[in-house]
Amino acid sequence: MPYAHITGWGMSVPQKVMTNDDLSKIIDTNDEWIRDRTGIRQRHIASGTETTSSLGTDAAFKALKVAGLIPDDLDLIICSTSTPEYIFPATACLIQDRLGANKAGAFDLSAACSGFIYAMNMGAQSIRSGSVKTVLVIGTETLSRFVNWQDRSTCILFGDGAGAFILQASEKPGGIQGAVMHSDGSGGDYLSIPAGGSAHPASEITIHTGMHFIHMDGKEVYRFATRVMAHATTEVAEKSGWKVEDLSLIIPHQANSRIIDAAARALKLPLEKFMVNVDRYGNTSTASIPIATVEAIQNKRLKPGDKVVFVGFGAGLTWGALAAEWSGPLPSEHYITAEWYKPWARVRSILRRILRILDGIFFGRDA
Ligand code: ACO
Repeated sequence: MPYAHITGWGMSVPQKVMTNDDLSKIIDTNDEWIRDRTGIRQRHIASGTETTSSLGTDAAFKALKVAGLIPDDLDLIICSTSTPEYIFPATACLIQDRLGANKAGAFDLSAACSGFIYAMNMGAQSIRSGSVKTVLVIGTETLSRFVNWQDRSTCILFGDGAGAFILQASEKPGGIQGAVMHSDGSGGDYLSIPAGGSAHPASEITIHTGMHFIHMDGKEVYRFATRVMAHATTEVAEKSGWKVEDLSLIIPHQANSRIIDAAARALKLPLEKFMVNVDRYGNTSTASIPIATVEAIQNKRLKPGDKVVFVGFGAGLTWGALAAEWSGPLPSEHYITAEWYKPWARVRSILRRILRILDGIFFGRDA
């Protein structure tokens, strides 16, 4: 059975930064309150031209470059997002087209802030079953488009961004060792976007009552998060045959620095064992774990052979953790990098649309 190694990584955040002081100009809040309660100092906010798929594509090209792969090497694209561009088509398919990944299947996965854990586990299991060799896993969000900028209890928390990993099959032992996934739908009301789905399709009433925005019971989500983070970390470490003390680094979902502090206390581990960057990005939901991972690598906090646990919680309610022995890139077979494919992917997409039109004209719709 092949092992699933993490061989590439990349992140992308919008250029525009919104500080706590910027927020205090539009709502009744202040820098001190936000930093004390959440640890957040600033977040990145998408411009009109930046979208869930554009951020995801940018992170994916970077991850392919690190792995020394080209888009045609991909067998499968899993995009974890709670802010898809459409109900359908899947954002994963928009990214597949922007990458020009001709041979890849693509689908979206919805497990809110735990989504990247779920998606990595699905990618790793596809590799271990032998059905695919190379998987692109993306976590990407434009939460700013679903935030009520008049609601100070939610709008201070969220930011936009994307992160991507490449998973590759190898006979070399290592890579993803184990994962745990949990859910409790009885807590679904604590964190939701009530309208826009089939329960409450968009209407004048849903818009008027703000049901298309993020609604959250912050206290309940906080209580749930502090309960599950430490437990899921211990559970996945034990499942992988490790002790929590053996871990080189824990990369938690970046929602609130107080939640991470509480997890460290419950695990009796020093805070230095945790990667924390919520101060600069806010809560980017499913993108927060890969973004934190990329920064951990840039800061030389991860090296091949390290034992790392990724752990997350979110709407659903969902939570989960994944244990991996850190790998790094496998030897590349290509002389050109993925970024060379960027302009070609655009041309390819336009050509395919033109060919489809010509096909319709010359061979008719019934052919
Ligand atoms: N600025 C100033 N005052 C504020 C603000 C603000 N932005 N927001 C709330 N307050 C006030 C409240 O009105 C309240 O005032 P009152 O006592 O006069 O009524 C007071 O501050 C305390 O409010 P609480 O809601 O009790 O504040 P709390 O300490 O619970 O912190 C917070 C709120 C930060 C949202 C916290 O509950 C939390 O972090 N919860 C977890 C949220 C989370 O992680 N969500 C993401 C989940 S992942 C996913 O799936 C997307």
